[in-house]
Amino acid sequence: MNLILMGLPGAGKGTQAEKINKKYNIPHISTGDMFRLAIKEGTDLGKKAKEYMDQGALVPDEVTIGIVRERLSKEDCKNGFLLDGFPRTIAQAESLQSLMQDMESSIDYVLHVDVPEEKLVERLTGRRICPTCGATYHIQYNPPKEEGICDNDGSELIQRDDDKPETVKNRLAVNIEQTQPLLDFYQDQGYLVSVDGDREIDEVFRDIQAIIEK
Ligand code: AP5
Ligand code: ZN
Repeated sequence: MNLILMGLPGAGKGTQAEKINKKYNIPHISTGDMFRLAIKEGTDLGKKAKEYMDQGALVPDEVTIGIVRERLSKEDCKNGFLLDGFPRTIAQAESLQSLMQDMESSIDYVLHVDVPEEKLVERLTGRRICPTCGATYHIQYNPPKEEGICDNDGSELIQRDDDKPETVKNRLAVNIEQTQPLLDFYQDQGYLVSVDGDREIDEVFRDIQAIIEK
């Protein structure tokens, strides 16, 4: 099954992707995670991506498309994949389309996790992540068992650099502008399914499961 998770920053893409990955064993491909890993490792890609991410801007299409193309060519994607945070522009969506043709495959669903804009700032500024395993928490909505500590491995949780209030504002503005044309693009092609993301994490996941298992 080839899935795309769409939604504004903070909508819950990463949270739902973790659950989908665990339940269905589909590789979770997050361009944001790939960039963050490159930054941590200090690679050229990381240096380039950081310039944009720190401002809440999008990383240029040619860079982003290149890393996705490479990732999708790996063996573990042959039986399906879950894209999180890609595509984010029409140019990226068109590249993905031609990539799928090359792979003689196609997208099954574009799942749009829909959350009202006014809820997103709180979700982003309250988010904490584990630097070791990448798990996502929220100080209020999805807290770890012990404050500030990852349930999985005991690491101390951190805040993402781009979750600081000054960056969040620009990230939301940039993404709001980019999202509607992409939703229209996938709506026209008949792939788009919207899920109400403004509910408990497990309720959102139940809806996603119902779509996948239909
Ligand atoms: P990326 O890492 O993709 O970030 P994003 O799209 O801004 O999305 P987030 O990870 O912030 O949110 P999410 O929807 O995954 O929410 P989460 O599940 O964590 O991209 C980062 C940057 O990389 C971009 O700004 C850009 O610079 C660059 N980039 C990445 N992809 C690119 C591309 N294709 N092209 C160009 N540039 C690209 O949840 C958020 C919080 O809410 C958490 O604390 C969570 O616990 C909580 N939460 C989740 N669900 C619920 C719920 N139902 N109820 C209450 N709380 C909830
Ligand atoms: Zn962890």
